[in-house]
Amino acid sequence: MGIKVACIGAGTVGSSWAALFAWRGCRVVVYDPFPEALRKAEENIARTVTTLSEIFLDGKAGVDEVLRRVTYTESLEEALSGTQYVQESAVEKLEVKRSLFEEMDNIADPETVLATSTSGLSITEIQKAAKKHPERCITAHPYNPPHLIPLVEVVPGELTSKRCIDRTVEFMDWLGKKPIVVKKDVPGMVANRLAAALWREAVNLVYQGIATPEEIDIAVKYGPGIRWAITGVYLTYHLGGGAGGMKYFLEFFKDHYKRLWSDLACWSEYPDNSFEAILKSMEDYKVIKRMAYDELTKWRDEQLAKILKLLIEGG
Ligand SMILES: NC(=O)c1ccc[n+]([C@@H]2O[C@H](COP(=O)([O-])OP(=O)(O)OC[C@H]3O[C@@H](n4cnc5c(N)ncnc54)[C@H](O)[C@@H]3O)[C@@H](O)[C@H]2O)c1
Repeated sequence: MGIKVACIGAGTVGSSWAALFAWRGCRVVVYDPFPEALRKAEENIARTVTTLSEIFLDGKAGVDEVLRRVTYTESLEEALSGTQYVQESAVEKLEVKRSLFEEMDNIADPETVLATSTSGLSITEIQKAAKKHPERCITAHPYNPPHLIPLVEVVPGELTSKRCIDRTVEFMDWLGKKPIVVKKDVPGMVANRLAAALWREAVNLVYQGIATPEEIDIAVKYGPGIRWAITGVYLTYHLGGGAGGMKYFLEFFKDHYKRLWSDLACWSEYPDNSFEAILKSMEDYKVIKRMAYDELTKWRDEQLAKILKLLIEGG
């Protein structure tokens, strides 16, 4: 495609996006008002492109050629000049995003999509600051790190146009991402809501002394987690209903879920002393005792890459 993309904000997420855009052939301009952030981003992007090359092409891809597609600037005007798509990943503060969107809306071509990576702010609130063309503002929320995890949650605000949604989804598809369009601007979108529901019960299980963190991770990793990676939640349960599919599953397990749901945690904040209970039981987590943080994250990324390859091959 070779289109020009701007990454606004060059921290953890902005650098990861920039590496992915360049890897896929885009010309990328990285903007940050802080020179030190740009310097670190340059290092991170070089490391990330090297990782992508090792994972997907056994290190044979021309890393230097990819990196030549990335430029760095402290000027927002320069970043937005001739840009067709903007991915904003600045600090998670509403006033910063609003002021950036107001400025970007004044500078960028009206056809340019202005997407934000925000995890927790409302796009409807952000886009109100883009008074000229609020219809081209949208959330494109990645799962960290964007260069590896395919999911992108595309969330339109109240003023976002259908054309902007379509163009964002089309671009994400082209990048090789897996976009979903979230129909309402709700906290946590889809993935973080699901993760938060699971996390509440994981905390509850430790708090009540039913299982340790390590046992809970074994239960997820070697149980439902494997199936979730292949068939998600709905398809898993549809298959659980046998030949009768979801209809059979819903009817047959109705009472089972009634009993279970009435026993699950439903609190909306951590219960008293739960932090102490969690931290105490984490002390016995074997792999954490055995490996340092850097070693653990390296191992995690290598395993992640293997799963990703399988998912890509499986379609
Ligand atoms: N970290 C995650 O796991 C994650 C996942 C998904 C989405 N996000 C979202 O991505 C965004 C960035 O998160 P992060 O973790 O990369 O943060 P970060 O703190 O690593 O990076 C933020 C960057 O914004 C820059 N910045 C500060 N003021 C700015 C301005 N006025 N204009 C442009 N840049 C500015 C900072 O210099 C810094 O480089 C947030 O909106 C966050 O919600 C984060």
